[in-house]
Amino acid sequence: MPALKTLGFHHITMVSTDAPRTLAFYGDLLGLDLVKKTVNFDDPGAYHLYFGRDGGRPGTILTFFEWAHARRGQWGVGGIHHLALGVATPEAQLKWKRRLTDAGVPVTGPIDRGYFESLYFSDPDGQILEIATAGPGYAIDEPADALGRELVVPPQDRLPDGRDEDAIARATRPTPSARVPEPVPEVTPDMRLDGIHHITGITDDIERAHDFYEEALGLRIVKKTFNQDDAETKHYFWARYDGAEVGPHSALTLFGWEGSRYVARPGAGQTHHIAFRAESPEEQAAWREHLLSLDLDVTTVKDRSYFQSIYFHAPDGLLLEIATDGPGFAVDEPAETLGADLKLPEWLEPRRRDIERKLVPLG
Ligand SMILES: [Fe+2]
Ligand SMILES: [Fe+2]
Repeated sequence: MPALKTLGFHHITMVSTDAPRTLAFYGDLLGLDLVKKTVNFDDPGAYHLYFGRDGGRPGTILTFFEWAHARRGQWGVGGIHHLALGVATPEAQLKWKRRLTDAGVPVTGPIDRGYFESLYFSDPDGQILEIATAGPGYAIDEPADALGRELVVPPQDRLPDGRDEDAIARATRPTPSARVPEPVPEVTPDMRLDGIHHITGITDDIERAHDFYEEALGLRIVKKTFNQDDAETKHYFWARYDGAEVGPHSALTLFGWEGSRYVARPGAGQTHHIAFRAESPEEQAAWREHLLSLDLDVTTVKDRSYFQSIYFHAPDGLLLEIATDGPGFAVDEPAETLGADLKLPEWLEPRRRDIERKLVPLG
């Protein structure tokens, strides 16, 4: 076990074909804050949008590359299946069901996953999203100080054959006595989505992935179980876990498709990469040494203006990043008006007029 342990996710980067539509969905409908409007530093003709909470707190950041002509991607081995955003309570989750349904977004759930309740839908590019409740947490079927030690078989009523799908589809209220939620035209404070709850990917070798995430990133196993939608498939969860508590914004889960060659295809509606946290540039340098000592191919440190980044791959092909917490999004515009103006790094400023001409205004 390495001395280095990441605190969890820094951000997730996905692919959009239409930045205004992505802004309407994540900003207006889901109520996330646009914290930076910039361009892809490696492809300055295209937007790079950042959403987050509290000015872009690590663990709450969702970013989008706009690739207008990207073909539709497909999840599979080495890719991300879905992103779950956290909500405090099942009551608020039902308000989301109503709000999304009224907006014409097909929704499935909420489904009782045991550790949390899950509501599923997709963004306009096809990225699968989930809204997951904060609790009850991973200690419902194992002691909190011994998570992940045993392989847990889910009870029958959480598996497809034992689930009451009609009742799930009908669910609009938390208890029979509670009022059916009215239309939800505004995202109310109780509905606030608090960033990354978990990220779920697919691997072709779950034990190899286990060794990798524990050794390379210092994550720890918190649940070994089976996919509740496909009971033949193993489903493991790792997180920042000190033997007592599971840290927020840190749960990575993988479905084990052993030996599968059904490889993820990058593209629209898919996750491009996921980034974990380093608290400082010094810690990031230590991470880089650590990853090199594991014989991983790690990039040099890249300056991303709002953080600095190193990149490497998981054994199943997933692109990973370690990003520093700082300097943060207020480095080039006031904290009160984050996301208001198109921000460019110094070296692209001379090309601003050209760049702005090519970009569709976001309003
Ligand atoms: Fe999930
Ligand atoms: Fe990134």
